[in-house]
Amino acid sequence: MSLLEKIKNKQALVGIIGLGYVGLPLVLRFCEVGFNVLGFDTDPKKVEVLNRGGSYIEHIPAHRLAELIKRQGNGGRFSATHDMGRLGVPDVLIICVPTPLTPKREPDLKYVENTSRLIATTLRPGQLISLESTTYPGTTEELMLPILGARLQVGQDFYLVFSPEREDPGSSRFPMSAIPKVVGGVTPACREHGVALYAQVVEQVIPVSSTRAAEMSKLLENIYRAVNIALVNELKMLCLRMGLDIWEVIEASKTKPFGFQAFYPGPGLGGHCIPIDPFYLTWKAREYDFSTRFIELAGEINSNMPYFVVQRVAEALNRQGKPLQGAQILVLGIAYKKDVDDHRESPALKIIQLLREGGAGVSYNDPHIPRCGGMRRYPDFDMSSVPLTAQVIKQADLVLLVTDHTAYDYPWIASQARLIVDTRNAFKGLDGGHIYQA
Ligand SMILES: NC(=O)c1ccc[n+]([C@@H]2O[C@H](COP(=O)([O-])OP(=O)(O)OC[C@H]3O[C@@H](n4cnc5c(N)ncnc54)[C@H](O)[C@@H]3O)[C@@H](O)[C@H]2O)c1
Repeated sequence: MSLLEKIKNKQALVGIIGLGYVGLPLVLRFCEVGFNVLGFDTDPKKVEVLNRGGSYIEHIPAHRLAELIKRQGNGGRFSATHDMGRLGVPDVLIICVPTPLTPKREPDLKYVENTSRLIATTLRPGQLISLESTTYPGTTEELMLPILGARLQVGQDFYLVFSPEREDPGSSRFPMSAIPKVVGGVTPACREHGVALYAQVVEQVIPVSSTRAAEMSKLLENIYRAVNIALVNELKMLCLRMGLDIWEVIEASKTKPFGFQAFYPGPGLGGHCIPIDPFYLTWKAREYDFSTRFIELAGEINSNMPYFVVQRVAEALNRQGKPLQGAQILVLGIAYKKDVDDHRESPALKIIQLLREGGAGVSYNDPHIPRCGGMRRYPDFDMSSVPLTAQVIKQADLVLLVTDHTAYDYPWIASQARLIVDTRNAFKGLDGGHIYQA
């Protein structure tokens, strides 16, 4: 049976490499529509948790994985392994490994490169490889293809595509099946196989002319967000100086039925995507003697936001006759966005660091993140979420809302706190003269 037939009959074995925030939802979706899935991850602890039916991502409940996991006597569709020697077994390999930046803010493609080398050792005719990790235009063809195509002919023996992930972690507004999937292939046959695969799991597949176009489309989506968030962050700072409420202004502008999409200000960018991905393009653009000025400017404004928040904290304390030095600050929410358990690149971390450098004592509460420590960029962080009791709130000189989790009872917090700095407009309408916007 050809690979195309196996895909269409759902008889292809799907391998998913990198079982994190992107890989695990894909596992669920492929299983849901009837594929068998073999998951690969280099972290043996994650593999062990999955194989006993557990989960390490809050919004992916363990029971959903437990139902799928292959155990003796049940017909489960999913198992996980850290044995990369088995990469030749699946018919399809979908790569969802990290694509971070190096300390010099350059693309760090070692995970994609290592994975490609491992796949190359077992690559066999009839395999389809899809890269989903966000990266600069050219990665699939310039980095992966030379590694994978050394022995076998792409488009004839094996197939290679890029199809960017568009997961919105923690949000149930758009199920994966309802989010169209862009696919670019190295050859027309590659694209045909990629389109056939993703048509099994999403309602709409958008084929594009090349892997580079697909890579660029993902970057455009993320850069669009980064730039627009920077714009409203800048306008927020201006509005505060002018005595205007940016939130009221956005609500008013939003009523225009065309030509305007609302973006909201905040304490800075966070997560694994928006603060990082635009710089993949900046780096690549240098090869073309091109400087991506919008990206640089947005990066500058967004990375300044934690400094601005800390300045607002100091001003709010000052109005109460208190210095930042020695103040007790309770930070609410350290996740990079509401209702997720992910604090990678979260602006809260930078804010905590700056507050501490200013001499403040800092504690935090986050219902989704019980512990905060062991991070490369913040090696001296070793904190646990404090319970959100009336006493804890009252003891703080200032409560700083960084992440507006749904679980927070804002009217109650406002009634207990002495002083609040709100970076999200979460305390709208609750101001008794003790709430400051930041
Ligand atoms: N998180 C998101 O919302 C999101 C959305 C769209 C795109 N992306 C992109 O998807 C990619 C993955 O992001 P993520 O958030 O899922 O990362 P993650 O850190 O949650 O997961 C990556 C997983 O890959 C594993 N891994 C690392 N190297 C490996 C290797 N060589 N072989 C097998 N497994 C390996 C890690 O142990 C980890 O479990 C990134 O390129 C990211 O930019 C993420």
